[in-house]
Amino acid sequence: MGKLAINRGQPVRSPFPANWPEFGLSEEKALLRVLRSGKWWMYAYLPERLSEVARFEKKFASFHRVKHCLAVSSGSAALEICVRALGIKPGDEVITTPYTFIATASCLLNHYAFPVFVDIDPETYQIDPDKIEEAITQRTRAIIAVHLGGNMANMEAIRKIARRYRLKVIEDAAQAHGSFYRDGRGAGSIGDMGIFSFQWSKNLNCGEGGAVTTNSEKLADLAWSLRHYGRKKNGVWYQHYRLGWNLRMSEFQAAVLSAQLKRLKSQTLRRMRNYQYLSRLISPLPGIKPMKLNPEQKSFSHHLVIFRYQPKEWGNIPLAKFLKALNAEGIPAGPGYPVPVYRQPVFRHLDTCPTSPFMSGRKKPIDYRKFIQACPWAEQACAGRTIWLPGRLLLARKKEMETIAAAFWKLWENRAELL
Ligand SMILES: Cc1ncc(COP(=O)(O)O)c(C=O)c1O
Repeated sequence: MGKLAINRGQPVRSPFPANWPEFGLSEEKALLRVLRSGKWWMYAYLPERLSEVARFEKKFASFHRVKHCLAVSSGSAALEICVRALGIKPGDEVITTPYTFIATASCLLNHYAFPVFVDIDPETYQIDPDKIEEAITQRTRAIIAVHLGGNMANMEAIRKIARRYRLKVIEDAAQAHGSFYRDGRGAGSIGDMGIFSFQWSKNLNCGEGGAVTTNSEKLADLAWSLRHYGRKKNGVWYQHYRLGWNLRMSEFQAAVLSAQLKRLKSQTLRRMRNYQYLSRLISPLPGIKPMKLNPEQKSFSHHLVIFRYQPKEWGNIPLAKFLKALNAEGIPAGPGYPVPVYRQPVFRHLDTCPTSPFMSGRKKPIDYRKFIQACPWAEQACAGRTIWLPGRLLLARKKEMETIAAAFWKLWENRAELL
């Protein structure tokens, strides 16, 4: 029997309680309001004041300081709307990060366009703007920046490159509700278009849902049309002007989101306070380095807590073993994305035969194997060097941060048991 819980010692704490999502009477009332109204659906031509969805859109746009917000069925749906609205065509290329969720890339594949991956900065885990230009070709049309875990990508550098090469910019802010730059600009308000996810794990959620944001009226109208089967804002219900879908959000979802939005500001402040405290307690530990935060930012969603693990400092204990021991102490943590996106099997099975839409105007498809060499930092981040704690842990009491840190320190002091 050892000191570590994995060796039948006393754990630092019992398993962390499921403290997510936070909800109460306001969510209950909101749901009952919609239920009793009998109006459960967002009809395209209903006056805005009568729609929960339209009311939520206004509130969220104002919260994130962006002119337009269009609520949709998921973050993935929002990404697809952006791809279509910005005119990305079959055979085109769009630059993005390989350290992200599949939807950032699959929104392109679904429209027969190719994601092109640019490596991350090893300290911020964000796309490295210094490597973007060398990935630009005649077919490049846009850049999708991802604000991973709420740490915002370097939008100034990205926009500068985009202007130089006349590229569009999409911000994938699926994880960045409540992230703002010091100058007040919110995630999702800086590029041509932005997206958010309201899936259950996200800081603002209603189970499933998403939003498109933009400051352009033209793009907002286009996004409106694409989510309403290609109708026109000032049209009638049975006239469809372009190919669109039903990508709408229901009134129930919007009612829950409006209630949840009231909690977001104080939740974000709590996350930020606890993150500061936790990273201060953990920073002196050898071989565990908190992700570098964007110094231009004043508010962080801290959707994820990301630490870099340096196995050498720990006598080469593999991350999997480290995490098993940490979990046994009662702390939920995982290794994050297990592979960079381009290693997903889908990239080996793209139909790129000469008649495929992927090959429109192209001589060659993209060989995704090349990114293994081109993205060494993304490779390393996914190969036992990254620790993710769910950001919801930061909503717990300050004392719990000491418990989390105590588990890390306990592992350090008893690391001989893991060797
Ligand atoms: C970075 C990123 N982009 C896009 C999405 C897709 O959002 P959704 O799950 O709402 O479709 C997610 C969801 O996890 C995400 O993390």
